Amino acid sequence: MTPATEPAFGVYLHWPFCLSKCPYCDFNSHVRHAAIDEARYVRAFAAEIAATAARVPGRTVSTIFFGGGTPSLMQPATVAAILDAVARHWTVAPGVEVTLEANPTSVEAARFRGYRAAGVNRVSLGVQALDDAALKALGRLHTAQEALDAVAIARKIFERFSFDLIYARPGQAPQDWSAELSRAIDEAAEHLSLYQLTIEADTPFAALHAAGRLTVPDDDRARDLYDMTQEVCAARGLPAYEISNHARPGAECRHNLVYWRGHEYAGIGPGAHGRLDIGAQRCATANEKRPEAWLARVESNGHGLVVDEPLTAEERADEFLLMGLRLAEGIDPARYEALAGKSLDAARIALLHAEGAVETTPDGRLRVTLSGFPVLDAVVADLAA
Ligand SMILES: C[S@@+](CC[C@H](N)C(=O)[O-])C[C@H]1O[C@@H](n2cnc3c(N)ncnc32)[C@H](O)[C@@H]1O
Ligand code: SF4
Repeated sequence: MTPATEPAFGVYLHWPFCLSKCPYCDFNSHVRHAAIDEARYVRAFAAEIAATAARVPGRTVSTIFFGGGTPSLMQPATVAAILDAVARHWTVAPGVEVTLEANPTSVEAARFRGYRAAGVNRVSLGVQALDDAALKALGRLHTAQEALDAVAIARKIFERFSFDLIYARPGQAPQDWSAELSRAIDEAAEHLSLYQLTIEADTPFAALHAAGRLTVPDDDRARDLYDMTQEVCAARGLPAYEISNHARPGAECRHNLVYWRGHEYAGIGPGAHGRLDIGAQRCATANEKRPEAWLARVESNGHGLVVDEPLTAEERADEFLLMGLRLAEGIDPARYEALAGKSLDAARIALLHAEGAVETTPDGRLRVTLSGFPVLDAVVADLAA
């Protein structure tokens, strides 16, 4: 893993379209039945990259991430043109990590070579489950075999790849999850994102759940599944480096580390968020979410920003805790002190130590323990209070 203090600058690019909306998902993703005018989006992405670079010039880009939505619906030429725009306005580091999120269908896998030629060197595949009945229940458009075929193609084409699975699914038995996870580790090799299913407000799953027609594992069962996940992954050489992310040492996603370590990043595209250091201030930015409204804003103002505010010292320090404590490496309390202008409350830390929720490493970092992770929100709330 790169050292936590090494400077990093990330560029996040949001592609907001999907072929269909999965019933559990509340990401900024939209289904459009008419063709997307990709050339028009490329112009808008390039304009927003130029406007952002004018505010934070001279950066060296260490990571680029195409997220969604479904970026694997973009034509490779669209990806190439956006990457060219990034390189025109900032210096791109020689070892830059360029990730693209892909849905694992055969149509999308057919574009992988084009993405590689465009400069993408890592894909993150939304496999979600290796079980056809579960995939159907999640509303996915691919089978397990199709996903595995896409993984095999990704393995041949990209230097690095990862895939996502959702667990703690309705009715999921621990022994089935253990077998599925082992199979996933065989296939994934270096990196896996393992998310517990969450019921997000205003999704079809939330409505079914409220009506009693969708039952997810209760807290004890979810905890068992979580513990099993940690054991299986650690035993197979993919320990958690973040609450939901597992990697062989050295194979961590450098882009997501930018967020969790509190580094600077630009957010480009509909609904994207950014954190920019302007003068001595850190600014939080957020773009208009609706794709067509974002396009219209960029075309008239040169950017799609709807939020652009400096963070107070307190907000910045809270964010540092909230993000940094997700990582197994934890945080440097001295950095918190520098941001907050006060140290963390020693009595609260002592109590959390006694409860086994946090520990201090030999080099003085504060981190959440494996048993503290399932109650991370409460730990952060306690420390930030
Ligand atoms: C925004 S999606 C983008 C990837 C791609 N569109 C796909 O679905 O394969 C990122 C990941 O978030 C996870 N995710 C989305 N909604 C979730 C939920 N309600 N509970 C758990 N994981 C979720 C899924 O694993 C998904 O792969
Ligand atoms: S999970 Fe992925 S494919 Fe499904 S709606 Fe969300 S972003 Fe789109």
